Amino acid sequence: MTYPNTSIRVVGGHRLQGKVVAAGAKNAILPILASTIMLDGETMLHNIPELADVNNMIRMLNALNVRTEYGINDNVHCLNTKKIKHLAPYELVTAMRASFFVAGPLVAKTGYAKVPLPGGCSIGTRPVDIHLKGFRELGIEVSFEHGFVELKASSIKGEKVRLSFPSVGATENIMMAACLASGETVIENAAREPEIIDLASFLTQAGAKIEGAGTSSIQIQGVQSLKGVEAYTVMPDRIEIGTYLIAAGITNGDIIVENAGLALNEALIDVLRKTGLCITEVDQGIRCQSGDALQAVDVSTEPFPGFPTDMQAQLMALLCVAKGKSIIKEQIFENRFMHAHELCRMGAKIDVSDQISVIHGGTLSGADVKMTDLRAGAAMVLAGLVADGHTEIYGLDHLKRGYYKLLEKLTSLGAEIIL
Ligand code: EPZ
Repeated sequence: MTYPNTSIRVVGGHRLQGKVVAAGAKNAILPILASTIMLDGETMLHNIPELADVNNMIRMLNALNVRTEYGINDNVHCLNTKKIKHLAPYELVTAMRASFFVAGPLVAKTGYAKVPLPGGCSIGTRPVDIHLKGFRELGIEVSFEHGFVELKASSIKGEKVRLSFPSVGATENIMMAACLASGETVIENAAREPEIIDLASFLTQAGAKIEGAGTSSIQIQGVQSLKGVEAYTVMPDRIEIGTYLIAAGITNGDIIVENAGLALNEALIDVLRKTGLCITEVDQGIRCQSGDALQAVDVSTEPFPGFPTDMQAQLMALLCVAKGKSIIKEQIFENRFMHAHELCRMGAKIDVSDQISVIHGGTLSGADVKMTDLRAGAAMVLAGLVADGHTEIYGLDHLKRGYYKLLEKLTSLGAEIIL
C-alpha cells in the first residue's frame, strides 16, 4: 500500500493540559464567503483562519471576479466588482465540493450560473439533488450539460420549499438564493446547524430579511439588493472545540478551550459526560478534565441538535480506550467508518457492519496509519496521543483543509509530535 508522502509522528503517553483557542468555523466561513457574490460593495470578515478549504473558496471567488484580500490577522476583505462571472471552474469545484455554495448566490445575483456537479468524496456520494429541487421550486431553470449544472432565472419567485432531508448545504444554498427573490420563501424541514444561524446573521447585516434560522422552518422575505458588511466576526468552530475536549479526555488531561460555549456542543458534551469526563463552563470557555476510567457509551449521529457526524471519528478514537463495549451508528453519511480500519491497525477491536460500529475498549499501540478524511485525520492524531509508542500518520493534507494549527496547538498543550 503506498502512503501519501506527507506524514507526522505522534509519540503517545503525554498528558495534555493548558489552554487553547478555537479558530473561526470553517463550515460557517465557506457559505458566508460564497454569499459575498450577492453583496454590492465591500465586506470585511474577521476570525477567518488560514485553511486549505478557505483558500479554495477564495480562489473560487476570484475566478468569479470577486476581489479578495487575505489580511494578516485572520481577516478577509471582499470586494464585489459588479462584473461577476457566471462559470465556476471545474478544477475548483472538484477540489472542494463546498464550492457548490456559489450556485445559489450566483443565480440570484446574475440570473445565470454554470457550476460543475461536485463529485463525491471518501465519506459518501454527496449528491446535490435536494439543492436542485429547492432551486426548481423557486422558479430557477435547472439543466445539465457535460457535467455542469446550468441555473437560469430571469427572476426568482419566493415559494414554500420542503426539504426531503435537513441538508445543511441545501438549506444554505436555497436560503441564499431566496434572499434576492421576489416575495416570501419558507424552507421547511431546514437544517438547524449553528453555522446556518451565523450565515443568516451575516446576511441580515447585509440587508436580508431572514427569520427562523436555527429552527426547522426558515422564512426569507426577498429584497432588491444586499450591501457589503463593514465588519463581521465568524463564530468559533464547534468541531475544533469538540476535538480538543476529546484530546483532554483521551490523554487523562485537563484542557480549557477558550471562546467556546456549551450551547454549540450540547449533544457532544452530554455524550462525553456519559463516558465519565468532567466538562464545565468556566470564565474563559469550556474546561474538560478526565475523571476515573473512561466508560463505554452508545451514540447515533443525527442532524443538529443531535450528535454531530463530524465528531464521530474523534469519539471512536476515545471509545477505543474506554472500558466496555460501545456502539456508534452513523446515520448521516453512507461511508464514514474508514478510520475504524486504521484504528484497528493500532490494536483497536472494532466490528464494522454497514452503518454500525461496535467498539470493544482496550488499549492502542503505535503503528503506521493514514488519514482517510478531514475528521478521521483528527481521530488518528487523537489515537496517537494515547497509543503506546509512536504512530506515523500519513496524508496530512486532509488536516490542513479544516484544522487551524492543530499540531501546533496540541504541542503547546504537551503533545510530542514530530513533523
Ligand atoms: C455539511 O456538509 C458540512 N460541510 C459537513 O462537514 C457535515 O458533515 C455535514 O454538513 C452534515 O452536518 C460544510 O458545511 C462545508 P448535508 P453537507 O447536505 O452540506 C445527503 C466537514 O468535515 N444529501 O447535510 O454536504 C448527503 O449525501 C464536513 O467539515 C443528499 O442526499 O451535508 C448526506 O448523506 C464533512 N442530497 C446527508 O444528506 C443533497 O442534495 C447530509 O448532507 C444534499 C445532501
